Amino acid sequence: MGTDKHVLYSAAVQSTDADLDFIERVYRNKRRKQAHRLREDFCGTALLSVDWVERRKGNEAWGIDLDLPTLAWGRKYYIDRMEKDAKKVHLMHKNVLTAKTPPIDIAIAFNFSYFIFKKREDLKKYFASAYKALASDGVLVMDIYGGTSAPTSCWEERVIRNALTPDGDKLPRFKYAWEHETFNAVTNELLTHIHFKYRGDPWMRRVFTYDWRLWSVPEVREILEEVGFASSDAFSHGWGADGESDHVYRKRTKIINEEGWVGYVAAYK
Ligand SMILES: C[S@@+](CC[C@H](N)C(=O)[O-])C[C@H]1O[C@@H](n2cnc3c(N)ncnc32)[C@H](O)[C@@H]1O
Repeated sequence: MGTDKHVLYSAAVQSTDADLDFIERVYRNKRRKQAHRLREDFCGTALLSVDWVERRKGNEAWGIDLDLPTLAWGRKYYIDRMEKDAKKVHLMHKNVLTAKTPPIDIAIAFNFSYFIFKKREDLKKYFASAYKALASDGVLVMDIYGGTSAPTSCWEERVIRNALTPDGDKLPRFKYAWEHETFNAVTNELLTHIHFKYRGDPWMRRVFTYDWRLWSVPEVREILEEVGFASSDAFSHGWGADGESDHVYRKRTKIINEEGWVGYVAAYK
């Protein structure tokens, strides 16, 4: 499975425990109770939904995506291999703009997937659809990024070590590259790619490509308010002594626009 794009993506990009710790903390701090019903918009292979269900008795998840082969991959390698409770992960081959789910505690749009909506009215439609899906005390959480390296062309590499395939086999270490091919300052459109490379092999180029608009925190929060969310918070990580992210996400009223920061916006119904 060493060259399977979903295996490489998951190893390089996903940190489901950290994501789920974060959303549980946000919900608990705001609502003083435990969340149980998760809606994972743009779920891809639905790994987050699977880990959500496995994390706590009583948890249930709805994963929504337009790409059938990706959903099928997630069913085969993640859901069908759950020890129990596979029936508590509901995969939906639907558009997030129209999918219907039961009242949800937390809806998430991760890995910047809502950047796919380039027009303000389309992003607004998405936020309205997430709002409608939430229970009366539900919370929508999405990730976001910025910094001086965001609206520009760039190529960043990391080495991925000690990753496992869904079969439990160790992956040889490999390189992950994140590329911004073009950024258009007139439209804020951003064309990005993910590439992978094993030592001695050529790059597996453009394994994933995303044609996005780079949305900013104030734009997102204003549109959330327009569709009816009562309030929202912005979160970002701090910086370690080595100049890297400390991966500790705190609520902020000010984020210094340093080179490349990653954050979240949480919106409360
Ligand atoms: C960047 S991937 C994110 C995968 C996953 N959320 C993650 O965190 O790794 C974006 C996904 O959004 C899906 N997608 C794009 N537009 C969609 C829409 N309108 N409704 C549902 N899924 C959509 C694509 O098929 C793709 O799987």
